[in-house]
Formats: sequence, C-alpha cells, structure tokens
Amino acid sequence: MKTNTRIIVIAVAMVFASMLSAQAADEPIVIKFSHVVAKNTPKGQAAEKFKELAEVRTKGAVKIEVYANSALYKDKEEMEALQLGAVQMLAPSLSKFGPLGVKDFEAFDLPYIFDGYADLHKVTDGPVGQGLLKKLDAKGILGLAYWDNGFKVMSANKPLKNPTDFKGLKMRIQSSKTLDAQMRALGAIPQVMAFSEVYQALQTGVVDGTENPPSNLYTQKMHEVQKYVTVSDHGYLGYAVIVNKKFWEGLPPDIRTQLDGAMKDATAFEQQVAKKDNDDALDAVRKSGKSEIYVLSADEKKAWKKALIPVHKEQEERIGKDVIQEIYQATGFNPNKL
Ligand code: LMR
Repeated sequence: MKTNTRIIVIAVAMVFASMLSAQAADEPIVIKFSHVVAKNTPKGQAAEKFKELAEVRTKGAVKIEVYANSALYKDKEEMEALQLGAVQMLAPSLSKFGPLGVKDFEAFDLPYIFDGYADLHKVTDGPVGQGLLKKLDAKGILGLAYWDNGFKVMSANKPLKNPTDFKGLKMRIQSSKTLDAQMRALGAIPQVMAFSEVYQALQTGVVDGTENPPSNLYTQKMHEVQKYVTVSDHGYLGYAVIVNKKFWEGLPPDIRTQLDGAMKDATAFEQQVAKKDNDDALDAVRKSGKSEIYVLSADEKKAWKKALIPVHKEQEERIGKDVIQEIYQATGFNPNKL
C-alpha cells in the first residue's frame, strides 16, 4: 500500500472509531426499576411519573425502564437483583426489609401505630424515617424516599368482625416477623408468600385470607376470590424507594442532581394520589358486588386493638425499643390508651 493510501485508510479508521465512541457516549444510562404491583396503583403511577420526569429533565441521557407486576422479579429475587446490580431501582414494601437484615423497618408493621397519613408523615418526613433509610447504606443500598400506599383491610371467605373470627385461618403475609406476630395474636396461621402468588393461592384455597390496602386488593382482583372484606385500618403498608448505592454514587453529578429532583417531585405526586387511589379502589370493590365490605364499629375496633397492640411489646427486641419509642414520640401514640 502506498503511503498516501495508508494514511487515508488510517484516517478513515480513526473517523470510524471516533464515530463509534461518540455513539457509545450518546448511549443513555439505563435504570431498570422493578416492582410487583399493577401500573394503576399509587406505586405504579409514581414509577411512571419518575420515568417521565427523569427522562425529560436529563434530555434523554437517562432511560428508565419500569417493570411492573413482578414482570422482571418477584419480591425476594428483586432485593438480591438490586444488590447484584441486575436492577438499579426498587420500591419494596417496608415489610420486606427483615430478610435483608434491616428489621427496624418492621416498626411500620406494628398494628394501629399510625392513626392516619398525617401521623405516618411525621415519621417518614422526619428524623426517624431518615435515620431508618440510613441503615440501608451498610447493605450497599441507598434509600431515596418513602412512597405511601395505605391502611390495610383484611379479607377472607367468612366475615371478619371480631378477633376470634380469625381462629385457624391461613392468612397470607409479607415476609415480616411482625406481621407473623400480628396474625398469631389473632389466632390465625400466617403464611409468607410472594405478592405475585397471592391471587392464585386465594383462588385455590392454599390460603384463606389476606391483608393489603384496597388499591392492591382491587388491582390484583383479590376481591373476586374473597367474599368478605373488613375495613379495619389495623396497619399500614408503604414503600422505600431504594437504589444500588455503587451505581447511584457513580452517576455523573449533574445527572444525579436531576434524578434527585425528579424523585422529589414523583414522591410529592405519589403522596397526593395514594389516599384517593385507595378510597376509589374500595368503592370499586363495593360496586363490583363480588365481596361484601364491612367497616368495624368503634367497639369492634377496640377489641382488635386490645388483641393486637401487645404485638408492639412482643416485637420490641426485634425492631428496637428506641425506634418504637421515637415513633410514639413523633406521633403521640400511647400503647396504653385504646
Ligand atoms: C405485598 O406483598 O402485599 C405488597 O408488598 C405488595 C406491594 O408492593 O404493595
């Protein structure tokens, strides 16, 4: 090859290589966000909102791939996938952090500990909530935000009005020892099961009943296989939005700032829709006529509290007395007053 031809070949190769690397630099950063609920739930909608805000604000430099309804991973697998870096973002229920070794989050599972969203936000928006998120650092996880869902109903194929009605019922729970204790305090037999398996387990009678906020009950069609739903508000179910720490801290600072902003706004949106979504879901269950909805009377609620509040003391050692006391102080909850 003549010198001139060689130079041209090298120059063309260099241009081609630089085009390839420019293309690589243009490749968006992909964030896989996996979750287990339907798109039309508070968490499902907020995940889509985060995607929209993040992609617009980073001008396409970040692409968020949201996988709803356990399409990518089930409960237990998704935590492992996050730690391994196979997904970058999750929003698991606060009841699912025990198996990871962060049992403190089970404080959110304590029966009747929050009287409503206002009480809950005193904790999630305050130092107690932030301190809990910090505990995830040691697991290679960063806690970015709390997302709300709502207060749980109980369901079964028999009416559940009094604590004694639970005797011997197999009740599906999330992987929380505090929820296990809650069901045992009612005389039920708790069974841990992935969320994606609950509908079928109820349909086939593998379990007799379950608990969840109305938005989850309705969007998974659990009300179609449960004859009775009791509005007991006996416990709260919500989320922590978490990311793989190494991945997040390795993002370019400007991108990270934009993503943090998008998360803040998606969180505000989430907190706005959660209560309404749950109220609407309960209405939809009622209108479907598939299950009968029963709202506990004041006296019945007292009986439930009497049976369930001892779980706080019982779980003190597992969750941490300090965390429980800090929540009591933030909300004014008094375990001795029904
Ligand atoms: C459940 O397993 O019941 C919930 O954690 C599902 C969810 O993410 O809301």
